[in-house]
Amino acid sequence: MNLQIDILTVLPELLESPFNHSILKRAKEKGLLEIRLHHLRQWAVNEYGQVDDYQYGGGAGMVMMAEPLASAIEALSKEKTFDEIIYVTPDGERFNQKIANGLSLKGNLLLICGHYKGIDQRIRDTVIDEEISIGDYVLTNGTLAAAVVIDALARFIPGVLGEEKSLTSESFTRNLLDFPNYTRPAVYRGQSVPEVLLQGNHGEIEKWRHAQQLAKTAKIRPDLLK
Ligand code: ADE
Repeated sequence: MNLQIDILTVLPELLESPFNHSILKRAKEKGLLEIRLHHLRQWAVNEYGQVDDYQYGGGAGMVMMAEPLASAIEALSKEKTFDEIIYVTPDGERFNQKIANGLSLKGNLLLICGHYKGIDQRIRDTVIDEEISIGDYVLTNGTLAAAVVIDALARFIPGVLGEEKSLTSESFTRNLLDFPNYTRPAVYRGQSVPEVLLQGNHGEIEKWRHAQQLAKTAKIRPDLLK
């Protein structure tokens, strides 16, 4: 079982690096994840490579035209059936671990990356299944956002993380932030690792970690505790 992700963007160059190192590179080599990049300009409306135009009603910023997007999606859909066609956009649903986990269970995803003022609303109304924002800020384009979404969901694919346990003891599991982590040496520039972590009593360690998680979450992200 592997997950195939197609990405439609005007900036495929931006994605040459993110999937070709470390964990994601290994996931691809193991055949757990397949990523294909498609340049939207292949479906441009003219020989100048046009894929965007001024917006009706006026205002700054170009809008990506419906036609190239529709042609691209139709062409790609001839090769396979997408379980979800996702548009990454700052006015989408806020991305989180739950959405990442859900997407990791699919077989075929198509991610559409916006640029400038985004895409023509009619494509959003008719072909997009899901709209995802990676946070309340605006990037110059959606391609980096797509990389973030893919990186986060890939971690949920069985076999991608060397140690599956990382998924059950990290931030956002059970709606808590992670506890503080330490490695050697036990004393670094006069600062000691908390005594409880050195004593090997797993029950006490669990209790300490949970208390730390609660305190940190209450301080930094009280919204998660509601
Ligand atoms: N494109 C630009 N900003 C974005 C964001 N915050 N999330 C998803 N796509 C975006």
